[in-house]
Amino acid sequence: QTFDLVIRNARCATAADTFESDIGIRNGVIEALGKSLPAGKEEIDAAGAWVTPGGVDGHCHFDQPTNDGTEMADDFLSGTRSAVCGGTTTVIPFALQQRGQSLKDAVADYHRRAGQKACIDYSFHMIISDPTEEVLSNELPELISKGYTSFKIYMTYDDLKLSDREFIDVLAVARNEGAMVMVHAENADCIAWMTERLLKAGHTAPKYHAESRPMLVEREATHRAISFAELVDVPILIVHVSGREAVEQIQWAQSKGLRIYGETCPQYLFLSAEDLGGDDDYEGTKCICSPPPRDKGNQQVIWNALESGTFDVFSSDHAPFRFADPKGKQAEGDQPSFDKVANGIPGVETRMPLLFSHGVLTGRISIQQFVSLTSTSVAKMYGMYPRKGSIAVGADADLVIWDTDTHRVIRNDDLHHNVDYTPYEGIHLNAWPAITLSRGRSLWKDGQYLGHEGMGEFLPCERPEPARPKVTHSPFIRESN
Ligand code: URP
Ligand code: ZN
Ligand code: ZN
Ligand code: ZN
Repeated sequence: QTFDLVIRNARCATAADTFESDIGIRNGVIEALGKSLPAGKEEIDAAGAWVTPGGVDGHCHFDQPTNDGTEMADDFLSGTRSAVCGGTTTVIPFALQQRGQSLKDAVADYHRRAGQKACIDYSFHMIISDPTEEVLSNELPELISKGYTSFKIYMTYDDLKLSDREFIDVLAVARNEGAMVMVHAENADCIAWMTERLLKAGHTAPKYHAESRPMLVEREATHRAISFAELVDVPILIVHVSGREAVEQIQWAQSKGLRIYGETCPQYLFLSAEDLGGDDDYEGTKCICSPPPRDKGNQQVIWNALESGTFDVFSSDHAPFRFADPKGKQAEGDQPSFDKVANGIPGVETRMPLLFSHGVLTGRISIQQFVSLTSTSVAKMYGMYPRKGSIAVGADADLVIWDTDTHRVIRNDDLHHNVDYTPYEGIHLNAWPAITLSRGRSLWKDGQYLGHEGMGEFLPCERPEPARPKVTHSPFIRESN
C-alpha cells in the first residue's frame, strides 16, 4: 500500500533525539520512518529542514463568555486558524463553568462552540468556579472518566476564585480521579487592597495594573497552592509564571521532591512592565494581562528557568481582546481605569516562532527542549501522548517543517487571529513554519492558510501520568482514606 504522503530528507527533532529520516504518512498517521521509503501519492522534500511535532498549546482562551460586556475576538475558527499558521496543531482551550451552572452544561456549551469551527484537534480544560457537592461527587468524576482530565482553578477574580477550603476539596477529587489541576496563583485580597489605594490616589493608567499585583501577590498564592497540593498529596501545575518570586517557590517545592509543575508564556520573556506605558499612556492596555509582565531582569529569570528545566510547558495564554473596540480593551472608553480593562493578550500564532527564534537559534535552549516545552511535555501533561507530541510510528501526522533561513518582523497584518494588534509587533524572527501538517494535511503552506472549519476533532484525554501522586505514604493521607 502506498503512502498518502512522504516527507523526504527531514531533520527530525523530538523531545529526546534528532535524526534524519523520511516520514511515511497514511490516513493521517505516521506509518513509517526510515531512509528511502517507497513513493507516496504526494511528496514533500524537506531538504534537511528541521521537522518537529506540531505544537500543543495547553493554555488558550477561545470564545469564552465574559461578564463585563467584553467579547473575546477569536472563536474556534479564527483561533485555530491562527494557531496552525504558527505551527500549533492541537489546542486545549477552556470550558468555563459559570457560578450556578452545572459543569456538564458548561462542557456541552463549549462543544457547540468548537464543533463545526475548529480546524485542528482540540480538547478542553474545565474551569471550576462552583464546586458544589454535586460537582465534586458526581459531575467531576464522570467528566474526568469521559476524557476531560484537566481543569483550572483560580485564586483571584471575584467571579471565579475558590476559597482555600474549596481549593482543597477540588484537589482531593483530582487526586482520587487522576486529573491534572492548573492553578492561577494570585492573592485576590492583596490585589483588591492595592487597587483601592491606587485608585484613591488617582492612579488609573495601565501601568498601575502591574503595581496593583506585584510579585509577592503571585509568590504568596503560589506558596499557598503548593502547600495545599502537599497536604492533599497531589501534583499541580502553576500556570503563567511571570518572574523570580514564583519561580523560587516552584524550585523550592521541586527540590523537596514535590510534583509541582510550572508553565510560562511568551509575554514573560518578551514583554515588560514598561510596555504598560507611562502616566497618560493608554496604549498600554494592549499588554494588560495577569500576572502582569515584570521588569527586564525577570525576563532573564524566566529564560534561565526554561533552560534549567524548572518549567515543563510553554503556552500562549492567548486571551484575545481587540484594542480599539468597545467590546475589547476599550469597553470603558479610550482612557479606562486599569482595573476595568479586560485581562489577556493574544499570542497563539507567535508562541512557537518566538521560542524557536529567540530560544533555539540563539543557543539558549536545545531543539529537544523546544519540542518538549511546546509539544511533548504538554501532550503528556494533559494525557494526549503519544498520539500527539511525537514523531513516531503510530502518532498522528501533526508536523511542522521549519523555515529557519527567514528574516522577518512580526506584523499584526500578517497574523491570522481576529485581534487588531499583537503585543509582539516589531520583534524580529528567524524561524517560521514553512508547512504545518495536521493529520497529514497541509493547513499552512507557502504563506497560505489551507484549512477549513470543522476539520478538527475533539480528543478525549487519558488520565495524565504526571498527575499521579508520587508519594504513596504521605504523612497527611492514610491509605485507608
Ligand atoms: O490575563 C490573562 N492571563 N487572562 C487570561 C485568563 C487567565 O487568567 O489565564
Ligand atoms: Zn489565569
Ligand atoms: Zn489563561
Ligand atoms: Zn532582524
